[in-house]
Amino acid sequence: MNESRPSSMASFWMPFTNNRDYKTDPRLLVSAEGMYYRDVDGRRILDGTAGLWCVPCGHAQPLITEAIATMAGQLDFAPTFQMGHPAAFDLAEDLMAFSGHKFSHVFYTSSGSEAVDTALKMALAYHKARGEGGRTRLIGRERSYHGVGFGGLTVGGIGPNRKQFGPLLPGADHLPHTHNLLKNAFSRGEPDFGVELADELERLVALHDASTIAAVIIEPVSGSTGVLVPPKGYLKRLREICDRHGILLIFDEVITGFGRLGTPFAADYFGVEPDLMTTAKGITNGAVPMGAVFSKRHIHDAFMDAPAGIELFHGYTYSGHPLACAAAQATLRVFREQGVMDNARAIQPYFEDALHALRGLPHVIDLRSIGIVAGIELEPIPAKPGARGYSALKKAFADGILIRTTGDIIALSPPLILERRHVDELFGKLATLLNNLD
Ligand SMILES: Cc1ncc(COP(=O)(O)O)c(C=O)c1O
Repeated sequence: MNESRPSSMASFWMPFTNNRDYKTDPRLLVSAEGMYYRDVDGRRILDGTAGLWCVPCGHAQPLITEAIATMAGQLDFAPTFQMGHPAAFDLAEDLMAFSGHKFSHVFYTSSGSEAVDTALKMALAYHKARGEGGRTRLIGRERSYHGVGFGGLTVGGIGPNRKQFGPLLPGADHLPHTHNLLKNAFSRGEPDFGVELADELERLVALHDASTIAAVIIEPVSGSTGVLVPPKGYLKRLREICDRHGILLIFDEVITGFGRLGTPFAADYFGVEPDLMTTAKGITNGAVPMGAVFSKRHIHDAFMDAPAGIELFHGYTYSGHPLACAAAQATLRVFREQGVMDNARAIQPYFEDALHALRGLPHVIDLRSIGIVAGIELEPIPAKPGARGYSALKKAFADGILIRTTGDIIALSPPLILERRHVDELFGKLATLLNNLD
């Protein structure tokens, strides 16, 4: 194991990173176990973000690491184009069971971005297969994050992520975001105000005509943009409007899937069923890259009426990679056998109270929470948006906690196995940090 500093940092062009600044003062993680990372100096770093929202069962989970090692020795790779291997089929059945059989089929990808682009392509192809090929318009939402493929960027709504890369796909449109600090600040769970923002979809239907709209894609809870929780009744109303106009509803559950809200999926938490659901991250506990699109039967079956032959001209070399399948099967086993979601639900009120105890500390203009997700919005430094958040990220790491920031918003999403002592450590250190932040 390489636990020493790299000989050079020159060649790695780091993703979503201020490369020049990072390399002057690098933060290097060398090992991880349970709720903690260890850095290159041997310091323990409490993981307040489950890596990047992707380690619900805690790091180095023994069942998962063992399953990966065993599969690596047995079947390092197998194609899934006109070919297959047992774990890919077995996992699909396990995933359907984990979803409570609300979905009937699953399509594997290697990441959340690929899952999003796959779901968007499925939506377009579904309408074509049913003779409604005019439905080509994709509707996203302002401030949403759907990964970095051209499809996901097109429906995504975070300005800086889009502006270097246009033009994006034609014909898309966006719903307004639901963030409203004036009316909803310091909410616990779903905020009271904003259900009527779902009616904006009716406005887009009136503008473009339903016959041009293929799908609406929504993060049930937005994460990467800084934790935006849907207003009460909002998702249900979107579902109703989609149904009224034959528009598919896609939930992007890349961060909310696999227990983050104490339920298998956010769809379960909110009691709203999408037609397609994109997942990734927690599906393998982050240990091997994998994404998956869950499909309702009517979507899948629309493709099966075509003349014999390949039904969907889409797939990735690593769709259903054996190591990912092994990791995902073991992850589901940990969920089943070790009460991961029970723990998330049990500790949620304690986690939420600890978050809201930060109210009144310097710079804090909002605290919001749902499941094991928390957002702390800080007042930006005038004319320097993002500077305070970035400074908080660096200070937190120096103090031994890993947090994630988007602009001036801190997002917390620790592994779901956390205990009260971890909550105390995380929010205790954050309180000290906020009291000492410029
Ligand atoms: C909601 C959502 N969709 C898609 C993605 C993209 O996933 P990936 O980074 O695995 O491509 C993310 C990543 O954070 C996400 O939060």
